[in-house]
Amino acid sequence: MIHLVELDKYNAWDVMFLKTRRDQKRFVADNVWSMLHAYTGNKTKGAVYPFGIYNDKKPVGFLLIAYDYSEVCDDPEAPEIAKNNYFLWRIMIDKRYQGRGYGREAVKLALDFIKTFPHGKAEYCWICYDKENITARNLYLSMGFQEIGEQGEDINAVIKL
Ligand SMILES: CC(C)(COP(=O)(O)OP(=O)(O)OC[C@H]1O[C@@H](n2cnc3c(N)ncnc32)[C@H](O)[C@@H]1OP(=O)(O)O)[C@@H](O)C(=O)NCCC(=O)NCCS
Repeated sequence: MIHLVELDKYNAWDVMFLKTRRDQKRFVADNVWSMLHAYTGNKTKGAVYPFGIYNDKKPVGFLLIAYDYSEVCDDPEAPEIAKNNYFLWRIMIDKRYQGRGYGREAVKLALDFIKTFPHGKAEYCWICYDKENITARNLYLSMGFQEIGEQGEDINAVIKL
């Protein structure tokens, strides 16, 4: 059974070194890099929630949720939607476990978590993916995300909470 476990000093190591396929590397940052973002982001007015994705006890992926990405990353190019909304910032399933439905289940669980509004109420969850990331794009659209615009190589999409 797929479930999310918030990462702490004990279990972070379970997922730190999980890897995507080589051809997917350009679609998602390395997990170590993402964890650094979680650490620094949580020292701002925003919030970052790093999760391990587990199949029973086995770590199979990594997921990162942020609230108010503009605050968290101090990114002047952050889209308008970043302000006061939740961001499904990163998701990856290790190359050994892809194509088994784990990614879809993890996104559902992420939305369930977001709907508990852990850092305050918000209207939307947004997501950002590379135009060429067809697997991710099809997955999000099939789950009800709607595209709201492009930014360079990326597409932004939202779902109402
Ligand atoms: C995107 C990702 C998280 C999906 O995880 P996953 O566990 O492989 O996906 P699932 O098994 O839940 O499949 C989701 C859908 O994608 C399809 N899919 C999965 N792998 C696929 C592939 N290699 N080619 C085409 N379609 C694929 C599945 O058929 C499924 O669609 P369906 O439910 O209509 O049948 C995973 O591919 C990944 O980690 N990619 C690299 C990192 C990345 O791109 N992250 C997203 C950044 S925005």
